[in-house]
Amino acid sequence: MSDMSPATPDEVISGGPTHVAMIMDGNGRWAQSRGKPRLFGHHAGAKRVKEIVRACPDLGVKYLTIFAFSTENWKRTQTEVSGLMSLFRRYIQNEMKGLVAEGVRVRFIGDRVRLDKKLIALMDDLEEVTQENTKVHLTIAINYGGRDEVSRAVKDLACDVARGELDPETVDETTLTRYLDTKVLPDPDLVIRTSGEARISNFLLWQSAYAEYEFIDTLWPDFTAEVFAQCVSRYAGRDRRFGGVKK
Ligand code: FPP
Repeated sequence: MSDMSPATPDEVISGGPTHVAMIMDGNGRWAQSRGKPRLFGHHAGAKRVKEIVRACPDLGVKYLTIFAFSTENWKRTQTEVSGLMSLFRRYIQNEMKGLVAEGVRVRFIGDRVRLDKKLIALMDDLEEVTQENTKVHLTIAINYGGRDEVSRAVKDLACDVARGELDPETVDETTLTRYLDTKVLPDPDLVIRTSGEARISNFLLWQSAYAEYEFIDTLWPDFTAEVFAQCVSRYAGRDRRFGGVKK
């Protein structure tokens, strides 16, 4: 931990991360501690998403990738899963205009096969209407799992080899990267997980090989722009060597 004084969200932090990935954990506990159903926490969490996206430009964060629903989250109750799906639909419908106006380009990653058609259509619309935006690149992971992503990538790559469109002798790390859902994104510099759990839960496994991690106790619905700025500021104080030695 750095002893730097916390940054406020209205200052760009020099040496800050370009790409932040976020594991938004703790919505359920936040709600339960207030005697409310888990979905109440997810709704509060959605409000924080808005605040954090808005804070990005001032903090110099160009790419924000958020883990909204994992390939493992289908194991939750039907009520929670359908509540989350309807929250995603509502978020897209309500936020579309604002995201366009604020210069946010939205992309989705994850496997769409299990998602309902209405949600997929909204995701397509949001990607299309924001495609000219460049101020912040917001990527939302829905039905996303790192292992699932790599498996799908390998399957597509193998199909191209079988069709004679790819020479297997040329396959290297860059080739595989081109088959991932994240092919147009830089690797994350900083991965933040809220709620005190210190694990990565199958999020951006390939892409985070050299990311810095922040595991913080704050529950996601309490994760304010100020807390975000403190994480960015601590990152700026770290020494990244990518396996090399200090110059
Ligand atoms: C993990 O907390 C959170 C999720 C599985 C859902 C994340 C979704 C949101 C923040 C909603 C808004 C997202 C968008 C894109 C509008 P948890 O429920 O596992 O918390 P717990 O560990 O306390 O049970």
